[in-house]
Amino acid sequence: MEKENVVLIFGGRSAEHDISIITGLQALKNVDDTKYNFYPIYISKDGEMLFGKKLFKIESYSNFSKKGLRRVSFRPADDRIYLSRGKGLYPSFKVSCAVLCLHGLNGEDGTIQGLLELSKIPYTSSNVLSSAICMDKIIMKDVLRANNILTPKSCYIKSADYYLNEEEILSDVTKNLELFSNSCFVKPANLGSSIGISKCSNLNQLMEAVDVAFSYDQRIIIEQAVEDAVEVNCAVLGDADYQIVSDLEYPKSWSSFLSFDEKYISRKEEKLGKKRLSKKLEEEVKKNARETFKIFDCSGVVRIDFLVLPNEEKIYLNELNSIPGSLAFYLFKNQNLDFKRLLNKLIEIGKRKFLEKNNNKYSFESRALANFGSGIKTNKYTK
Ligand SMILES: Nc1ncnc2c1ncn2[C@@H]1O[C@H](COP(=O)(O)OP(=O)(O)O)[C@@H](O)[C@H]1O
Ligand SMILES: [Mg+2]
Repeated sequence: MEKENVVLIFGGRSAEHDISIITGLQALKNVDDTKYNFYPIYISKDGEMLFGKKLFKIESYSNFSKKGLRRVSFRPADDRIYLSRGKGLYPSFKVSCAVLCLHGLNGEDGTIQGLLELSKIPYTSSNVLSSAICMDKIIMKDVLRANNILTPKSCYIKSADYYLNEEEILSDVTKNLELFSNSCFVKPANLGSSIGISKCSNLNQLMEAVDVAFSYDQRIIIEQAVEDAVEVNCAVLGDADYQIVSDLEYPKSWSSFLSFDEKYISRKEEKLGKKRLSKKLEEEVKKNARETFKIFDCSGVVRIDFLVLPNEEKIYLNELNSIPGSLAFYLFKNQNLDFKRLLNKLIEIGKRKFLEKNNNKYSFESRALANFGSGIKTNKYTK
């Protein structure tokens, strides 16, 4: 049987571009090439999609040059990849699935998922809506609260409002969140990797943090800090019908919170958090992760991060990462899933979701156009 073609997409116009290259190259080293032909597609920092052999090598990304690479394009209702030759773009092979290794904006947020939906290409992450909700910290928290999932108390501000009336808005936020008997975290709504995030314990710090966050996004969220929390992450793999819940990971936060370098550049065993939760709380975290995955209609692999107060037995959900770093493969060791098997599962899930969706009815016979043409006034477009 002829092998199917799978593209693995990474890089992207996002603050997490470099992390995404690492996830992409890790995945490429672990593909099951007995089943599929894998092709890397790299999205450069300026958003160009590129194709070619040198994308397999990590050296290609320092002092990156497009030399030797071909431009890639997708077209609506056409599941083939288009590649550049000279000035033209020509159809190449049919894509059976796109493995998404993109983090942050323009990748994890539903945008590339939308492009692939239009091209009728299955993909490995959550759908457009679910991805967009997981990416936006403001809406994500609204959905959590609407479903009675505990998350730190928060408010949000838009820059258009804030700079017209800073004093009143700051005073409202301070009152609502009972600052500064509590510290708070200020975050841009749509970034990741702790970029633009500050922890504040007084008004001056808050004002500065708000300006910093607004330099990254038009909308920001301010939330009560959960002090002395045990941070714990849990990944869930699956879709609406079945889920596999991973082991827990205890990332260490030895300063006020994990910064970019701590999280990605130097993730080492000895830096993992020392505090552990009781078995009972661990099970509750896992149950919460599975329920949240279902409520958000996620699919693929999602890592959900919690802040837990063990003495009070309170489990706060901090965030969902709909395409986690390294696709969170390292959390599934005890589920008999190595990276290769995880990738196979993700592709199977993506293809199954695609088929399910395409079994939905997209059109129905209506008399609307005929009636409109013959001048009949109607707003009931029934058979
Ligand atoms: N409300 C909070 N209380 C305590 N710590 C927090 C809170 N919000 C964020 N943090 C800390 O800041 C880190 C980054 O925040 P997070 O919301 O996860 O942003 P990012 O999307 O950039 O990862 C978290 O991993 C945690 O250590
Ligand atoms: Mg986080």
